[in-house]
Parts: sequence; structure tokens; C-alpha cells
Amino acid sequence: MAELNNYTPNIMIVTIDPEINNILEVLLKNLNYKIQLTNSSSGAVKKLNEKKYDLVLLDVGLQGMNIIQFLNYVKEVSPETFVIVLAGHTSKDQIVECLNNGAYDFLAKPFEKEEIIKRIKNALDQKKLKNELEQARRKLLSLDKQYEYIVENSPDFVYSLDEHGNFIYINDSLIRKLGYSKNDIIGSHYSDVIHPEDTENAQFVFNERRAGSRDARVTKLRLKVNSDSKAENESKYLVVELKAKGIYDKSVKDKNKKFIGTHGIARDISVNLQLEESLKLQKTYFRQLFNNLPEAIAILDSQDRVIDVNSRFEKLFQYSISEIRNNSIHKFIVPRNLQKESKLISSSAISYGTHETESIRVCKDGKAIDVTIFAYPVIYNNKSIAIYHIYRDLSEFKESELELDKTLRKLRKAMGGIINAMVATVEVRDPYTAGHQQRVADLARAIAQEMGLPENEIDGIRMAGTLHDLGKVNIPAEILSKPGKLSDIEFSLIKMHPRVAYDILKEIDFPWPIADIVHQHHERIDGSGYPQGLKGKEILLSGRILTVADVVESIASHRPYRPALGIDKALEEINVKRGIYYDSEVVDACTKLFHENRFVFTDDMSARKETLNLIC
Ligand SMILES: [Fe+2]
Ligand SMILES: [Fe+2]
Repeated sequence: MAELNNYTPNIMIVTIDPEINNILEVLLKNLNYKIQLTNSSSGAVKKLNEKKYDLVLLDVGLQGMNIIQFLNYVKEVSPETFVIVLAGHTSKDQIVECLNNGAYDFLAKPFEKEEIIKRIKNALDQKKLKNELEQARRKLLSLDKQYEYIVENSPDFVYSLDEHGNFIYINDSLIRKLGYSKNDIIGSHYSDVIHPEDTENAQFVFNERRAGSRDARVTKLRLKVNSDSKAENESKYLVVELKAKGIYDKSVKDKNKKFIGTHGIARDISVNLQLEESLKLQKTYFRQLFNNLPEAIAILDSQDRVIDVNSRFEKLFQYSISEIRNNSIHKFIVPRNLQKESKLISSSAISYGTHETESIRVCKDGKAIDVTIFAYPVIYNNKSIAIYHIYRDLSEFKESELELDKTLRKLRKAMGGIINAMVATVEVRDPYTAGHQQRVADLARAIAQEMGLPENEIDGIRMAGTLHDLGKVNIPAEILSKPGKLSDIEFSLIKMHPRVAYDILKEIDFPWPIADIVHQHHERIDGSGYPQGLKGKEILLSGRILTVADVVESIASHRPYRPALGIDKALEEINVKRGIYYDSEVVDACTKLFHENRFVFTDDMSARKETLNLIC
């Protein structure tokens, strides 16, 4: 505006009259205008082509072009330039012709000083006004274009209906979404694009809700998508939130103003509804999982204040969420002596990503329960925003553990009783076997200890020794106690006893391979034993130990068919067959035990009880 206010108009004077020339130049210079003088039409044309003039004062007595030609030239090359024609004796028709051909004003000679200044000022004012009007018009045109662009490209739908409810305008956005052409919609009734079930609602919006606060209300409507088109929306209906405002003829002054139509906007909320639905579903999944988990869960904020708890938490600790929400968890379920420990759980979970501890928590009724607490931070945007505390109630687990332990002990006791009964059954039928099994078990245990076997393996060897001749239960008592030499058939019956024992014991779930050890107690290193003819390391070490112990005890003790041969004879036998029948290492350990007087056979049956107690 400052530039406009300081603007100095450019004026060109075109005349051959020196008097006019001088007068005008003086006048105009005094008014601080920029003046250019020329005395020919060619000079004027040249100047017009060089720069813009606000005003041309044109003398009719011009050489070259006539006045009308010049006026037309100005109109063509500089239409914004005003022209005042100066003339001496001119007819009225000439004046009219000049004005018709673009002259702004006409001044007759001789000139009055005040008059010419007034006319020039008036012309410049008019020109200025015309310029301003032109600028305003352009601005309006530009705003109009901007408005049109915004409306057409708005993600919202913009529409207008006439007084009958027919579309008279819709923007491109609505067209694209619904898949219609503008021609399909313009002129059609709104009910053509509205879901039949929503027509009543739409009628209310478009016919009743027209002004005042009611036009601000939002109505949800479903719009039909053109099924034949390639609309952006693939579903059959588009859900929109719609606003409508009545338009009235303001020229009608009475209070029953004439209704002339409706206009408004609508927003597609289909995606929002889908997101809302999906969110609801996710919440339902979470909530149901949260409440149905067997563990009690509390969600805490960074200050350990309760945000939420699940149903199991409410049941276990007997606090409802409304009682403890926004309160510190420590106030409610943490015993006084464990406050410090409890306060470290969340910070530890945040630092390490997880925290697990066993502790005690207190229910509302004062009952203390053993729990395992798992804590995990809830991470959002790389920041810990909450902590899950998950409580696993161990009281039931501990009770069941005790119950299980009791049952197991009962079962073991029963099993020990059964095994004892089986051993007793054999020994009752064969008095010579009585005590043999226990003595073998004692020696086998001593050899295993001498060889430095692990304690658990030694226990298995003891148990196998106690049971090793169980298979004799299947052999007639007369054969077992026959004083003389056995026939081949009788001996073949005797040789079945390891297999019989194996079949009896294989189904029993011992913590050691008892059935296999017993099965192998008559095998020999060179493969000459029975019943499987196993060789070397095919025989378990426990089996190889049991074999040596069995042979030594048998030779050293009394048998129905011979008297006791003594320990020296027994040691001689195993050393003669060392590495052939018997494992060398086992023979050496056994020999060493007797040579160093670290083992003697006894008939103390308390060791048997001790052995059977291994499984009780
Ligand atoms: Fe045997
Ligand atoms: Fe035996």
C-alpha cells in the first residue's frame, strides 16, 4: 500500500501545439507527475511500447495516425491507459466518436487551468479505482478457485439438495467413493442412494432438521455403493456421519421463510467402524484370556499402583478391582516383612525384562499363601508403561505334592512287600537258597564299593542280588534240594531260572535295570554262560559283579549235593577263570576284599530289610 500511496503517475502528452505543450508541462510538473512529451503519433507509439502510461493527453491535430486510429492502437497495446483528447473546434459527432473508441474524456480549447487539473485528477482517480476493482475481482476469482479445489478434493462429502430432495451438487470425493458418475447423481432423489432401512432417518434429517442447533447434529446413514462400478469401497454400503442444514430464501421476510433446499457434509466412517470393531474384538480376546488364565494377574503402573486385575486375582486374594484400583499393591497383599522385597520386583523386571521369585502373599481374610511371582514390563514405543505381576498359587501344588509323596510311599511300601513275598516264596521252597541271595547281595555291594561305583548303581546291584534267584520259584522243590548230581533235563530246568526271573521283573518299574542284571547273572565273559550266551561288555558291569559274587558265595557255602568248599576254593575258582569266565577287574576287587579281611559272609538278615527299604 505504501508503494501505491507514493505512486507517481506516468503521463504522456502528444501534441504539436507548443502552447499546449508548455502549459501542460508546467502544470503537470507542479503536480509531481512524470511527464513524457512527443509531437507525433510514431513517437507516441514508440513510448507506449517502451513502458506503461497511466494517462495520455492526445491533441487532435496529430501528424501520422488520425485520432481514431491512435485511440484503437492504445486500446490494443495498453488497454489500461486512459486517454484524454484535447481539441480546438470539434464537432459533437467527433467527440462522441472519440469517446466510443476508447477516449476517457474530451477537453476543448482553450483550457482553464483548474478545469484541466480537475479532469486529469479525475481520470487518474478513475484509473486507480478501476485498477483496484480489477485486483479485487482477480482475488475473488482466485478465492473462488481455491474454494472449488478444496471442496472437490475434500475427503469429506459435500452435497446440496433442492427443496424436493434432489441432488443439485455433489463433490468428486463422494462420486469416487460411491462409484457413480455426476450425471447419475445430479437430479436423482436422495432416497436413491440411501439404504432402505435408513430412509426414514434420512427423511427426518433432510426435511425436519434444517436450522439452528439442529443442523449441528450428526446422523449415521448408509449410502448405496454402485455395484456396477469400480468404486474405491468394496462393500455394498458406505457408512457416513452426515450433517444437513436447510437453505431458506432470505428475500422472504415473514417468519415462515421459504425452504429452498439442503446442503451439508458427510464423512465416511466405514474404516473407523471397522477399526472400532477390530479393536473391540481385540479387547474381547484379551479380556477373556486375561480372566480365564489360571494365574492371578495384576497390571501395575510405574509406581506399583493397580491398573487392572483379572478374575483369578479377585478370587485368590479376595479383593475386587474397585477396592484396589489406583492403590499401591504393597498395601494389600504384601506382608509387612516383605515390603522391601516386593518393591524391588517391578524395577528388576524393567531392568532385566523379566523377574521370577517365590514368596508369600496375604489374602484379604489374612490367609498367607505361597506364590511364585513372575513380573514382565509392558513395553510401548520402547518405553516401559506398566508391569504385569503374575501370581501362581503354590498352596494347591504343595498340597498335591504332599499327597503324591504319600501315595508314592504307599506304593513303594506295597512293592517292597511284594518283592519280599516273592523272595520268601523261593526261599521257603529251597532252604539252601535261603540266605544265599542276601549273602550274594552283600558281597556284590562290597565289590561295587571297592571298585568305586556310584552310590545309586551300588543300590541297584544290592537289589538285584537280593532277587537274583527269584526264577527258581518255577523249579520243582525236589530238584532244588536234590542231594546228588542233576540229570541233563533237571539241569536244563535249573538253567531257566534267570529267564523266569527276568519275565517276572521286567514289568516292574525299578529305578535300576534289575530285570537285565538278574537275567545276566549266569553269563560268562567268553560267552559260555546262559541263558543268552552274552560276551564281555555285552554283560552289564552290575551283571558281571553279581556273577562273581554268586559264584564265590555258592562255592564257599554248603550245597545239597556237596559240603561247603570254603572261601579259598572260591577265590581259586574265580582267579583261575579270571578274564575267561569272570571280569578281571571284578575278580581282583573281590580277591582283595577277602585277602585284606575286609569282607566276611554273615547270615544277618537286617541287610535284606535295608535293601528292600531302598524302594520304600
Ligand atoms: Fe542263580
Ligand atoms: Fe545264585
